[in-house]
Amino acid sequence: AKARHFKWEVSNMFWSPDGEEKVLIGINGQFPGPTIRARAGDTIHVELKNALHTEGVVIHWHGIRQIGTPWADGTAAISQCAINPEETFTYRFVVDKPGTYFYHGHYGMQRAAGLYGSLIVDVAEGEEEPFKYDGELNLLLSDWYHESIHTQMVALSSKPFRWIGEPQVPSHFVHPVFVMWQTVKMLDHDRIEFVAAWILSLLINGRGQFNCSLAAAHTPGTKQCVTVNRQCAPVVLPVQPNKTYRLRVASTTSLASLNLAVGNHKLTVVEADGNYVDPFVVDDIDIYSGDSYSVLLTTDQNPSSNYWVSVGVRGRQPKTAPALAVLNYRPNRASKMPSMAPPMTPAWNDYAHSKAFTYRIRGRAGTPPPPASADRRIELLNTQNRMDGHIKWSINNVSMVLPATPYLGSLKLGLKSTLAAARPAETFSRGYDVTRPPANPNTTVGGNVYVLRHNDTVDVVLQNANALAHNVSEVHPWHLHGHDFWVMGYGEGHYDHGRDAKTLNKVNPPLRNTAVIFPYGWTVLRFVADNPGVWAFHCHIEPHLHMGMGVIFAEAIERVGKVPREAVSCGATATALMNGAHL
Ligand code: C2O
Ligand code: CU
Repeated sequence: AKARHFKWEVSNMFWSPDGEEKVLIGINGQFPGPTIRARAGDTIHVELKNALHTEGVVIHWHGIRQIGTPWADGTAAISQCAINPEETFTYRFVVDKPGTYFYHGHYGMQRAAGLYGSLIVDVAEGEEEPFKYDGELNLLLSDWYHESIHTQMVALSSKPFRWIGEPQVPSHFVHPVFVMWQTVKMLDHDRIEFVAAWILSLLINGRGQFNCSLAAAHTPGTKQCVTVNRQCAPVVLPVQPNKTYRLRVASTTSLASLNLAVGNHKLTVVEADGNYVDPFVVDDIDIYSGDSYSVLLTTDQNPSSNYWVSVGVRGRQPKTAPALAVLNYRPNRASKMPSMAPPMTPAWNDYAHSKAFTYRIRGRAGTPPPPASADRRIELLNTQNRMDGHIKWSINNVSMVLPATPYLGSLKLGLKSTLAAARPAETFSRGYDVTRPPANPNTTVGGNVYVLRHNDTVDVVLQNANALAHNVSEVHPWHLHGHDFWVMGYGEGHYDHGRDAKTLNKVNPPLRNTAVIFPYGWTVLRFVADNPGVWAFHCHIEPHLHMGMGVIFAEAIERVGKVPREAVSCGATATALMNGAHL
């Protein structure tokens, strides 16, 4: 195992991710940030300088469990203090497991401002992947708003609420590769009023096309993209005929749930979130924010043609053509137009298709099985609520608001004042009707820290419900820090332990770090609390997290090793340290 050193500087910069020049957050002048490539067992050192000048920053290593290094998890107000402007903080952690990962900002909505990149871990020297391939291709998927994250954050927390809502394309655009998001006002009686249009593009490796189509040749009446700008030029994936490629696909979208298909090619799913899965063949894959997959693709089609890779939107109504990349069979020119139109991704609301894909994912033979039973069951009801005229997301009627002092420091030092006295509820009313808007829509904030005992096996039941408006229930991809969990099962309606526990998969559930709840449904996860630290568990949709959709697991704090001072020297912890407290 090696130590790998990186020196990064995070700064705002001009960039044209979709052809329109905007300001985003880049690393070392690049967008997306530099790809980290390592081998299992290596130690990563990232010396991160904050050159944003007027705001703090942190970076989370999504999917890396941070075993023994909870202070390197990169969650502002949870595992560390935000790094101040002009300051440098060094992340040191071991990438213990091969897989497809990524990293991203975890302070405010900085991920949506472009602060992300790929993190790929190969098997340790001398070891082999359990499948063969000749080459690999990396696709980091994201979405990009033309409005700044500051505008987005103000809109989400203003009164009346403005939702950066459902995508739609105004009629004067015929078939462009972009999605239009509309700002929505949630009025009394839960009527939704569309007040303005916001633009959101889908990006592949940081590139998208707004207001023009790469595939214009297949769709009469649309404007062909003239790629004068390298920053938004289409992504080209060069391949040789009759070989097998590993496509690494990860999604760090702010909002969009995606589907990926490659014209005329089948995909064999082999990895999910850094864990091997029982291989299965599909025409397309769903990818929610926070997910990563590896799929194998064999270049067995007519080699005189190139093929489109399409990325479309799921779960929210888009009227858009997909984002595109070119699978370039060499020696064809990359600019050779594919002879076939881009593959159609499934209809956005075809939930049966999404469920069939998601339910099919199982652990590969050799995946450790879950403990046969749990020591504790935590049931989390996901609702949309009001607080003081603001719209929030709540878990068991508590909306998450992060404290000024990071939990890792305040809990380690036992600063009681920083912890809410109330223990958050571990269950919700059996009578709650998940098919209707909440009878009492009011919610409270804070007090959402669940204290976990060392080595307890914990079941989490994530229960979806109806939002504030009638007949609305969304998909939420939940992501757990510090762990992989087994996805034990999914179901419809109100979870009933007596009835539904019997349906859980105890034989070969997949290990993952992100799992969805489908509209009006439930999902059960199981994990062992064997990694002392303070871990965020939240919906990976950036505006939902910002609106409170998450909880905190404080796990075996008494066993957390010596926390580096520089990670938690702020707020009440800084004061305590000054007064002689020891971490
Ligand atoms: Cu990638 Cu807390 O998230
Ligand atoms: Cu959500």
